[in-house]
Amino acid sequence: MYALAINGSPRKGGNTRTLLKHVLEPLEKAGWETEYVQVGGKHIRGCIACGKCFENKDLKCTQKKDMFNEVMEKMVRADALILGSPTYFTDVSADMKAVLDRSGLVALANNRAFSGKIGAAVVAVRRGGGTHVFDTINHMFLMSQMIVPGSIYWNIGFGLEEGAVLKDEEALANMRNLGETIAWLGKAIEPHRKTFPVCHESFG
Ligand SMILES: Cc1cc2nc3c(=O)[nH]c(=O)nc-3n(C[C@H](O)[C@H](O)[C@H](O)COP(=O)(O)O)c2cc1C
Repeated sequence: MYALAINGSPRKGGNTRTLLKHVLEPLEKAGWETEYVQVGGKHIRGCIACGKCFENKDLKCTQKKDMFNEVMEKMVRADALILGSPTYFTDVSADMKAVLDRSGLVALANNRAFSGKIGAAVVAVRRGGGTHVFDTINHMFLMSQMIVPGSIYWNIGFGLEEGAVLKDEEALANMRNLGETIAWLGKAIEPHRKTFPVCHESFG
């Protein structure tokens, strides 16, 4: 089983990273292969609505000048996607929004490539707007026939400066629980993945 964590923050040692690493830890303990990728600060372009992904059906976006397709390949292979973002004016970072839009559309264009995968949203926030970020990420998951597990509270950690979230013990416990829940859920659904009711009709 393979879990991919994607960080939409441009900060290399920031709070989103800390939270994501706390989710990955129990998954590694449970024997999962894990990978952590940072897209924040990498200038991921937004979707240009060219619709070419519906014509080409090659699990790729036609825009090739950034790292998106490299990330998309990993997303398609993953059993669990854990997408993390800092809160920027009550929403995801621009790089995370670009990943959500392009990956969501490419997956939809390719026989709903994310269907049956586990998805979890993780958010770093200083004070307000974290639940909106949480919603933005979950919207893509829930329109993609993905399975979204909960944890002991919202998957949100508080802090402003890099490392500040380490003081938010409840958030760290939440992240560890989220990782354990994903590990449990992944194991439980694995034998049934082939019978997942993927919708083959296209309404997009
Ligand atoms: C452009 C920008 C906008 C922000 N907007 C908000 C906000 O609306 N609400 C909030 O509580 N924090 C806001 N913050 C603070 C960050 O969400 C917070 O510092 C977070 O921990 C950063 O995560 P990171 O260390 O992973 O980058 C903002 C920070 C930046 C740079």
